[in-house]
Amino acid sequence: MKIRGAGSLHLVYSLLILLQMQPSTGSNSTTADDGVKCMKSERQALLAFKQGLVDEHGWLSSWGSEEDCCKWEGVRCSNTTRHITVLNLSAYAYDYNFILRGNLSPSLFELQHLIYLDLSGNNFNLSHIPKSISSLNKIQHLDLLICNLSGSLPSQLANLTSLQYLDLSFNKFNIQNLVWLSHLSYLQYLSLSGNNLSKVNNDWLQVINELPHLTSLSLYGCNLQDVIPQYFPIINTSRASLVLLDLGANNLTTFAFQWLTNFSNSLVSLYLGSNQFRGPIPETFSHMTFLKELDLSNNQFEGEIPKSFWSSNLSSLQILLLFNNKLNGTIPKSIRLLSKLEVLDLGFNSFNGVITKAHFSTQSNLRSLSMSSSYLSINFSHDWIPPFQLKDIDLGSCELGPDFPGWLQTQRSYRFLNISATRISDSIPIWFGKLPSMARVIDLSSNQINGILPNLSRNFSYDSSALGINLSGNHLEGPLPSFPANTTHINLSKNRFNGSISSLCDITGMSIEFLDLSSNQLSGKLPNCMMYWSSLQILNLANNHFFGKIPTFVGSLSLIETFDLQNNNLFGKIPSSLRNCSKLQFLGLSNNRLSGIIPSWIGERSNSLNFLLLKSNHFGGEIPLEICWLTNILLLDLSRNNLSGHIPRCIGNLTALARKDIAARGHFFNSSHGWFNPWRYADKASVIWKGIEYHYENLTLQRTIDLSSNKLTGEIPVQISSLFEMHQLNLSRNHLIGRIPPNIGQMRQLESLDLSHNRLSGWLPPSMSQLYSLSKLDLSYNNFSGRIPTSTQMDTFNASAFVGNPTLCGPPLTPTCPGDEKLIDDGLKYNQQDKDEFWKGFKPSMELGMAFGFLGVLALKIDHPWRHVCFLLSNYMKAYLSNLKGYLCLVVSAVCLVITVNAARLRRKLKF
Ligand SMILES: *[C@@H]1O[C@H](CO)[C@@H](O)[C@H](O)[C@H]1NC(C)=O
Ligand SMILES: *[C@@H]1O[C@H](CO)[C@@H](O)[C@H](O)[C@H]1NC(C)=O
Ligand SMILES: *[C@@H]1O[C@H](CO)[C@@H](O)[C@H](O)[C@H]1NC(C)=O
Ligand SMILES: *[C@@H]1O[C@H](CO)[C@@H](O)[C@H](O)[C@H]1NC(C)=O
Ligand SMILES: *[C@@H]1O[C@H](CO)[C@@H](O)[C@H](O)[C@H]1NC(C)=O
Ligand SMILES: *[C@@H]1O[C@H](CO)[C@@H](O)[C@H](O)[C@H]1NC(C)=O
Ligand SMILES: *[C@@H]1O[C@H](CO)[C@@H](O)[C@H](O)[C@H]1NC(C)=O
Ligand SMILES: *[C@@H]1O[C@H](CO)[C@@H](O)[C@H](O)[C@H]1NC(C)=O
Repeated sequence: MKIRGAGSLHLVYSLLILLQMQPSTGSNSTTADDGVKCMKSERQALLAFKQGLVDEHGWLSSWGSEEDCCKWEGVRCSNTTRHITVLNLSAYAYDYNFILRGNLSPSLFELQHLIYLDLSGNNFNLSHIPKSISSLNKIQHLDLLICNLSGSLPSQLANLTSLQYLDLSFNKFNIQNLVWLSHLSYLQYLSLSGNNLSKVNNDWLQVINELPHLTSLSLYGCNLQDVIPQYFPIINTSRASLVLLDLGANNLTTFAFQWLTNFSNSLVSLYLGSNQFRGPIPETFSHMTFLKELDLSNNQFEGEIPKSFWSSNLSSLQILLLFNNKLNGTIPKSIRLLSKLEVLDLGFNSFNGVITKAHFSTQSNLRSLSMSSSYLSINFSHDWIPPFQLKDIDLGSCELGPDFPGWLQTQRSYRFLNISATRISDSIPIWFGKLPSMARVIDLSSNQINGILPNLSRNFSYDSSALGINLSGNHLEGPLPSFPANTTHINLSKNRFNGSISSLCDITGMSIEFLDLSSNQLSGKLPNCMMYWSSLQILNLANNHFFGKIPTFVGSLSLIETFDLQNNNLFGKIPSSLRNCSKLQFLGLSNNRLSGIIPSWIGERSNSLNFLLLKSNHFGGEIPLEICWLTNILLLDLSRNNLSGHIPRCIGNLTALARKDIAARGHFFNSSHGWFNPWRYADKASVIWKGIEYHYENLTLQRTIDLSSNKLTGEIPVQISSLFEMHQLNLSRNHLIGRIPPNIGQMRQLESLDLSHNRLSGWLPPSMSQLYSLSKLDLSYNNFSGRIPTSTQMDTFNASAFVGNPTLCGPPLTPTCPGDEKLIDDGLKYNQQDKDEFWKGFKPSMELGMAFGFLGVLALKIDHPWRHVCFLLSNYMKAYLSNLKGYLCLVVSAVCLVITVNAARLRRKLKF
């Protein structure tokens, strides 16, 4: 998360730089208002190019309708030769919605007099660059950034010898070599970012050397290979002209930083982020006196930032990105010598020490300050008026408290403010409530902020469409205040707010997507205005005192994914309108006073529903068969109700519980908030786990069926044991009869099994000894009989797991079973370990469970060398014949059985 959040910041700045790099269109050309008419052949070529394109927005409508092609959209002609010299169809130059789709027609390359061609941002459906591109031998500027082009690069690119600017970045080219580049000796700007260069070895270094005018080289995300130092070309430093070098996101581990000193007198922008560089930050950078932008983020640099960094040598530095390394030490006050700093990101490191106003007394251009998760303590004095106006403030997990930071009052233009987990234990001052008009994300969560939350407002501006506020995990109290009109995300969970939530009705714009008010003391009914919240995806009102019926208008929340009203005072039925909520992933109504039946339409949510929690209500009637349609359910909790009837046989259809590859869908909010996103949401609930109630903040990994404490009758359907991936099964405290499904041993992931307080009977199936993950077992208070199966796992349970079954015997209930004594008296010692191995050797299939049960009983009674033979045989089968499974198993078992019984008989005959 931290990497992604920070990475997007990098991308934003890369993009800004990229946009600044875009030169204006050729000033040698004119719009030909002087009566120049275009060439007929070039007109034809343009029309043929248009033919291959889909122009949804009529961007090229002037093409063809206007006689003179020099006047067409994006076209410019030479005022002397009448030839087309400029074609600028960049999707970035216009509204990004204007995007052309289709083929890159070779006819385009008949425009032999083109000097400037920009097609960036359009979608050419994986077209290849045709060989005929060689005819553009006058071209100086070629921009094919993000054009969805593919294939190998034609060697004919070498003919474009006038090129000064070449951008082929973020396409799907398969680049085999860079030989063609060495012919482009006028090249100043080259970007191959986002293409795979893993096959070109060290050629890119030669390229730097052979292109004397190259000032900008971008190879971001090119799968570059590490370079052995002796392969670094010797640079003529007097000729070295590189101004921008971007080698970000290449997974480079070693790099001759010393070699970079060749460019000390030219480099302005150096991007080395998202690689695997380790060790201390080299001093090299401190000698780059022209450096304005330095990105070393997302690496494994360690130790202190070199002292030389803070000398006045680097005084031009505007952007310094060091986040997500292993840096430590303090940040010295001499950082103020970097007085031109605009962006400083030190986050996700292990710095220590205190940052004071002395550190930032000069940086009047600072607009983005990030020190989150860096162990820094920030102690700006309360009345300090900083020289800067920040747009992005990211100080999460630093130490800012205990007072609310007063200097924030001077910051009137921030978009992002993250001061979560900064140990503030103060109240929120009134001035804070008047948010900057461009504020978009405000995160004050996980502090000890107390008192009443002031009304929040912001002046409307063009920039103020969406706003998210996270105050979760504080000590705020009193009624909910009012929120600005276009608030989209609100998280006030885990506070002490009370009273009704009707002030939320002031949030007009119907834009609210995320509302988490859980774990407060809120009360009253759900207000009617909620019916207009058609964008709502997460509604969590759990653990409050809400009262009344679930209103029927919930059906109009058509995008809702999480509907969590657990632990309130709701009564009445589940409204049938809820069936309209077709995106429901989580329905949590546990611990209310709801009644009626479990509606059969619930099965219609088969594609979405992962969690259904109806625990501790007054639901009655039978479990509807349609529940079996929920093939994505991971947690089904119907416990502590008045449900009667049978457990549906079709329960084996809950196939998500049998598959590893199905996980909870999760909730994704688009990154409209950019930078950092505090709106990741995991579904939560209290779940009884191994008999103890836990609150799970993230249910993703739960696979549970809990039907306990109802009035269910009939047998446990054998189909339940096909749910191999289930972690927990609780059917306790019902009126169930019959046996435990014999093949229960198949449920290898089962960690908790509670069948206590039923009327179950019969032998405990031997396959239970294969429940290797089982750590909680309760079979108490049933009518089970016979010997408790043993295994290393089964032996860990104490008597409380088995009590209340009068005819159950063996450890841990009783030392022996009736009949054992005679065998012991006979001196027929019973070897416990052998017995375990014996049972482990077999892998009984479903139909054979009972046969094995029978065999098991005999094996316990008989001691004979043949038993060992059988054991060996069974192991042999397991190892070599496992594919033949039960059939062979049965045959061998039967043979063993006959031999063993006969041998014992024979022996007794001989003895007596
Ligand atoms: C105009 O074109 C000439 C010749 O191609 C070139 O030398 C000159 O620098 C160009 N002028 C501008 C302003 O681009
Ligand atoms: C052509 O354009 C150049 C530069 O814009 C201008 O100086 C010149 O006068 C123009 N020639 C004609 C014939 O319009
Ligand atoms: C491209 O370059 C090659 C080798 O220099 C040359 O033989 C060929 O004629 C050139 N093609 C065009 C169209 O200029
Ligand atoms: C990065 O490099 C390391 C070690 O050289 C390698 O294990 C890892 O798979 C690489 N990662 C990528 C994304 O190439
Ligand atoms: C800083 O990091 C270096 C390199 O990992 C380590 O040797 C040193 O002990 C660390 N210093 C502190 C104060 O943690
Ligand atoms: C809410 O945002 C929309 C654009 O998303 C804007 O048109 C509308 O005016 C805003 N409403 C208010 C009250 O600010
Ligand atoms: C359970 O699945 C089986 C096989 O896919 C199907 O025939 C049966 O109708 C399902 N039962 C229910 C109640 O959906
Ligand atoms: C919940 O847990 C899963 C699995 O451990 C993890 O992938 C996911 O990111 C977590 N979700 C949140 C919001 O923390």
